Amino acid sequence: MTDVATLVNQGFFSREDVIQLLNADREDRSLLFAKAAEIKEKYVGNIVYFRGLIEFSNICEKNCFYCGIRKGNRNVKRYNLTDDEILNAAGFAYESNYGSVVLQGGELDSPAFSDRIERLVKGIKELSGDKLGITLSVGEQSPEVYRRWFEAGAHRYLLRIESSSRDLYYRIHPNDKTHSFERRLKALQDLKDTGYQVGTGVMIGLPFQTMEDLADDLLFMKEMDIDMCGMGPYIEHVDTPLWEFRDRLLPLEERFNLALKMIAILRLLMNNINIASATALQAIDPIGREKALKIGANIIMPNITPGAYRNDYKLYENKPCTDEEAADCKNCLEARIHMSGNKIGYNEWGDSQHFKDKH
Ligand code: 5AD
Ligand code: SF4
Ligand code: FES
Repeated sequence: MTDVATLVNQGFFSREDVIQLLNADREDRSLLFAKAAEIKEKYVGNIVYFRGLIEFSNICEKNCFYCGIRKGNRNVKRYNLTDDEILNAAGFAYESNYGSVVLQGGELDSPAFSDRIERLVKGIKELSGDKLGITLSVGEQSPEVYRRWFEAGAHRYLLRIESSSRDLYYRIHPNDKTHSFERRLKALQDLKDTGYQVGTGVMIGLPFQTMEDLADDLLFMKEMDIDMCGMGPYIEHVDTPLWEFRDRLLPLEERFNLALKMIAILRLLMNNINIASATALQAIDPIGREKALKIGANIIMPNITPGAYRNDYKLYENKPCTDEEAADCKNCLEARIHMSGNKIGYNEWGDSQHFKDKH
């Protein structure tokens, strides 16, 4: 077997190589992290771009087995920000020089919802004089709807595959029409065809998940030629069906380390994509997000949802920043980024270099 020191300097990785890197122990892990940091600096620089995250509604038609705001959870107080509240949050991002916003919410599929998102995208463009970049993260939609939103001005879309293994996908989702693995794959392809910069990602440390699954997830992202990735540790939530399997999970610290390794390996596999430092990292380690920025990630999504609603957007336990307001996270993150040795790319879209090189 090739040693890790040699492996990380290779320009290509087989499935076995990826598995070996995922299994790297303490010393080898440091080699991996150092190489990923070097590649990051070389290809995307030590600049972190902010995407102000607006979690505009927790009303969702889906029933994913891992998610705290799934339709079947009756212990959630459902909310839906008004258009004005959403536009005000976007205004905060604009005034804070964030460069971009992300509209994220539960998945709905109706003409009224499509109209609303289109209206909001146009509204955000208008209030910022076309300056704010817009990422959408509202699930699977028809190609027509994706096109309308793109034409309205959204140019990036996040849709995590959650797991690229069909088997595992159906262990963490109901096996029915609304949760079809094939439909999700098609949605990712439709987004690419529409012209979006496309981001996907997975949860790390799911029950039943193997190292082979995770290696395949990374190779899936490479094969799909994605432009952006957001992936973080799976964290159990008491009001979900997967809670039952909490005893078979990796300990939190190991899940966290595995998530960092996934980010570092992806940076080696896809040098110039945008990789987000997921909020879930901070649910395990108070400086988890900064650690990810040091070893490969280059995007952070400061929460700009009005504070009053944050407690109701609990996808998992221990979610950070639920007692804070947008201005708190702004000050906090600015300090944290500087401590991590990165600069903040204010007022820039910070588009995926990978996407730019393709077009
Ligand atoms: N733990 C970690 N991440 C989760 N997500 C949903 N539930 C959980 C959880 N319990 C992630 C999914 C989804 C994103 C919005 O949040 O990957 O795509
Ligand atoms: Fe809805 Fe997304 Fe949660 Fe699934 S993960 S239940 S689609 S909010
Ligand atoms: Fe929200 Fe630190 S990022 S309080």
